[in-house]
Amino acid sequence: MGLKHSALGVMTTYELQMPRLERARDTIQKLHGTAPKVGLVLGSGLGAYADTLASKKIVPFADVPGMAVSKVVGHAGNFVFGNVGDMHAVAMQGRVHLYEGHPVADVVFGIRLMISLGAKTVIITNAAGGCGQQLSAGDLMLIDDHLNLTGQNPLVGANEPDLGVRFPDMTRAYDPALGTYAMDVAKKQGFTLKRGVYAGLLGPTYETPAEVRMLRGLGAHAVGMSTVLEVIAARHMGARVLGFSCITNLAAGMTGETLSHDEVTETAERVKGQFTSLLHGVLTGIAANEVK
Ligand code: HPA
Repeated sequence: MGLKHSALGVMTTYELQMPRLERARDTIQKLHGTAPKVGLVLGSGLGAYADTLASKKIVPFADVPGMAVSKVVGHAGNFVFGNVGDMHAVAMQGRVHLYEGHPVADVVFGIRLMISLGAKTVIITNAAGGCGQQLSAGDLMLIDDHLNLTGQNPLVGANEPDLGVRFPDMTRAYDPALGTYAMDVAKKQGFTLKRGVYAGLLGPTYETPAEVRMLRGLGAHAVGMSTVLEVIAARHMGARVLGFSCITNLAAGMTGETLSHDEVTETAERVKGQFTSLLHGVLTGIAANEVK
């Protein structure tokens, strides 16, 4: 992409996102008039929650102008609009990843779009490898904080003030009140939600054991290939963020085993019921204004 003179009057190689977002928003609003209050991103093998929404309306990513489409197996590639009680919500079944070769603006386009449509809260989920002491395959983890190790940031380029400020604070990127509420929901449902720091890497290789040792030293408890860029874009726009990792495997070198995507999808499938109940419990609480 060559240098362009942007509407903000600076030379940039980065395309402005607002016009693109407005086009996509108009298209969706024509198809589906109701504004969602909450947006969800459902990661690898975790798309089933969207099926539980009432009065569902599916909009494939491919029907939304400006939206890139993921090719990863286990990622459906749809926006699913629907209700939890009286509350309107939208879920992304699948996401696009940096490692597929998409520009960072495409990676965060879906989350920006859900927020543009009205979502004030976003729930971002992923499959991840566990590298913290207390984690086992099959655990669900509340994300308390993250390490963005992708080498990218969706806010590079001219800042678009209609989206947010130039230098967003990331101190409480993952909303503490939503996190506490989610911990309580899990407890009431009879299981312990683990909590920790998620390290987001570029991928698509899984980590080497040396990298996992480094990540542990840096304070990571889970490692994956998504989420962090979406959270940055969401915080830039002022949305509240709740994040969950499904620990599908222990990270490289933590057991004698090698890693495979099949193991990731198999574990996600195994914990699908618990994960769906957790999301349902949290969304029901948000719908009932129980989360301050
Ligand atoms: N590493 C990175 N991404 C992942 C992993 C992992 O071990 N498991 C699921 N996604």
